[in-house]
Amino acid sequence: MTTATLTITRPDDWHLHLRDGELMASVLPHSARCFARAVIMPNLKPPVTTAAAARAYYDRILDALHPDLDFTPLMTLYLTDATTPAEIERARADGVVVAAKLYPAGATTNSDDGLTDLARARPVFEAMAACGMPLLVHGEVTDPAVDIFDREAVFLERHLRPLIDAVPGLKVVLEHVTTKQGVDFVLQGPSTLAATITAHHLLYNRGAMFKGGLNPHYYCLPVLKREEHRLALVAAATGGSPKFFLGTDSAPHARSAKECDCGCAGIFSAPVAIEMYATVFDEAGALHRLEGFAGHHGPMFYGLPFNRSTLTLVRETRPVPDVVAGGAAGELVPLGAGAPVLWSLEAPDHTLRYRG
Ligand code: DOR
Ligand code: ZN
Repeated sequence: MTTATLTITRPDDWHLHLRDGELMASVLPHSARCFARAVIMPNLKPPVTTAAAARAYYDRILDALHPDLDFTPLMTLYLTDATTPAEIERARADGVVVAAKLYPAGATTNSDDGLTDLARARPVFEAMAACGMPLLVHGEVTDPAVDIFDREAVFLERHLRPLIDAVPGLKVVLEHVTTKQGVDFVLQGPSTLAATITAHHLLYNRGAMFKGGLNPHYYCLPVLKREEHRLALVAAATGGSPKFFLGTDSAPHARSAKECDCGCAGIFSAPVAIEMYATVFDEAGALHRLEGFAGHHGPMFYGLPFNRSTLTLVRETRPVPDVVAGGAAGELVPLGAGAPVLWSLEAPDHTLRYRG
């Protein structure tokens, strides 16, 4: 086997679910071992709807962080029908909030308090445009008449295009894009429109959920799609466009909450995420573009500096652990559990090296 190493600007994760309490403390090191910053999703129970709640959550994350790890949480506000432009301005002024998240009410985990009518939230979107705060969009319709595999494509035309047209200065990230239609929409849209792509949507198509039986650890929202969509995502991620950047959507749920009658949506990829992205880029012959996707395009879009430290990956196959500890939540099953992954972090246990 060819040996190779790859040193890149230390990457960031532009879409991460860290949860709270003991579970947060358990999963945080899996992201902080490798990512310098991460955009932290606000879909806690109750959701993070105010600048004060975001600041308190930020403090809890830093309290749980091992002092030797260098990691900055970039906080988000959860938009509800009651969010005001003044709250956006407070969040912007406070300094830890970088963006606000649009969950269509009922679209996914803990989204019941999300927006029910985008038109009514127009003053909030205008306040965000005025202060340069990006809107992070879970782009799926909740209309039960729309097939679950079509919910993203329908959202683009039914909701996202009118929103972008109505508030032209607004920066928008189509989070975890999963379809060819989504990729084309982003590519053809204005420079204020970008998208994050997960490792699991790059690596797997919907067949993974059904391979040899029902596999709940491959169930997430938006759900994995057909192979043609996966190929479009790989082309987008590895193609070098600054409109696409890394967002793991790592979303831990206890094993018992995944392997049950009504398993939760969410794939826990943090323990293997950068390794899996490297594998995808390697297989596409585009390792030279991993740094842009993982370390440059996100900061460029958000108007933040690049990280000054680096991360080294080695082409060395290692097995993904079967389970990872989740504190009181019990065991967590990581993406690709038990299978080999082609790339590894150099000396992954020496996270001290990444400080500074
Ligand atoms: O699969 C998902 N899990 N999709 C989401 O949008 C939310 C996430 C979670 O919080 O578990
Ligand atoms: Zn998410």
